[in-house]
Amino acid sequence: MIDYPRDAPTYVAGHAGLVGSAIVRRLEAEGFSNLLLPGFEQLDLRDQTAVNDWFRAHRPRLVFLVAGTVGGIWANATRPAEFIYDNLMIHATVVHAAHLYPVEKLLYLGSSCVYPRECPQPIKEGCLLTGPLEPTNEAYAIAKIAGIKLCQAYRRQYGCKFISAMPTNLYGPGDNFDLESSHVVPALIRKFHDARTAGRSEVVIWGTGRARREFLHVDDLADACLFLMRHYDEELHINLGTGEDLTIHELASLIRSVVYPGAELVFDASRPDGTPRKQLDVTRLHALGWRHHYSLRAGIEDCYRWFATHQDIARRLGRNAHAT
Ligand SMILES: NC(=O)c1ccc[n+]([C@@H]2O[C@H](COP(=O)([O-])OP(=O)(O)OC[C@H]3O[C@@H](n4cnc5c(N)ncnc54)[C@H](OP(=O)(O)O)[C@@H]3O)[C@@H](O)[C@H]2O)c1
Repeated sequence: MIDYPRDAPTYVAGHAGLVGSAIVRRLEAEGFSNLLLPGFEQLDLRDQTAVNDWFRAHRPRLVFLVAGTVGGIWANATRPAEFIYDNLMIHATVVHAAHLYPVEKLLYLGSSCVYPRECPQPIKEGCLLTGPLEPTNEAYAIAKIAGIKLCQAYRRQYGCKFISAMPTNLYGPGDNFDLESSHVVPALIRKFHDARTAGRSEVVIWGTGRARREFLHVDDLADACLFLMRHYDEELHINLGTGEDLTIHELASLIRSVVYPGAELVFDASRPDGTPRKQLDVTRLHALGWRHHYSLRAGIEDCYRWFATHQDIARRLGRNAHAT
């Protein structure tokens, strides 16, 4: 284990996002005092020259690479060019600059979308590149796979300590609640909340409800990211999740019980389900000694509390609309 000094210059790329803000909260809680947090206006991570200049000037020692163009099924289906271009560029510029202006360690966050659609479940790390991807998010997945391969290539050729982790679906305070671009948990919280406020009994849910998914609270994810910075240094990426999944129907029922118990669930089967099942095998993570803390109910209650008290912000958080 490496315990980095609390004054180590630490760069969180994507610090304003769901994941980045959770990592910042966690670093601050642990007393990290030298956080480097340039906003998009100061540093567009798709611009290699700007990224190089910034690394040369600020010399981060630790890097959490969690910036990206991210979204749910609808956003992926309608904006594939942005998803592939932005993410390829962001991963490449930061990884390259972290090599040119050597950082001590870089953690790159991929996604469980990198795995083939028909992977045996639960999904082991070795399943990567063994079959066709889910078509609805192929562009995003290709960029995320390229991120893994970048870290591996720079590690092999230059000996860089770059590691990759593949988290399952995330949710929590600071999430994107915009129905056009959000993931399933914030989208359902918002739909149930809006239906309750408007006095509507029906809540329409995309898909058949039969797809199975796994969810990790973003504060658990942040805890895991710091844990991996300290305890993990291998070329192979590592899965990050709870190891527990449920159907979208079960998830919707759980969110209903937290937000609007009187609501009636209506499934719109004309909308895509996405991959039928996506549960990560977290054997390697557990073997290192890491476990999640939030139950799904406690996590959803926490997320709903945040939404209910930050609605003005939450409704504006339709992120990733950066013009190219
Ligand atoms: N959310 C999930 O369920 C999930 C699941 C698995 C993996 N991940 C991975 O976790 C990472 C973060 O996801 P997230 O949910 O935290 O996304 P997010 O909330 O949309 O945050 C992404 C962050 O990246 C920044 N960003 C985007 N393009 C940028 C650019 N060109 N230059 C500089 N900054 C830029 C955004 O800046 P602005 O604030 O200015 O827009 C934002 O702060 C991504 O790599 C994603 O693949 C997320």
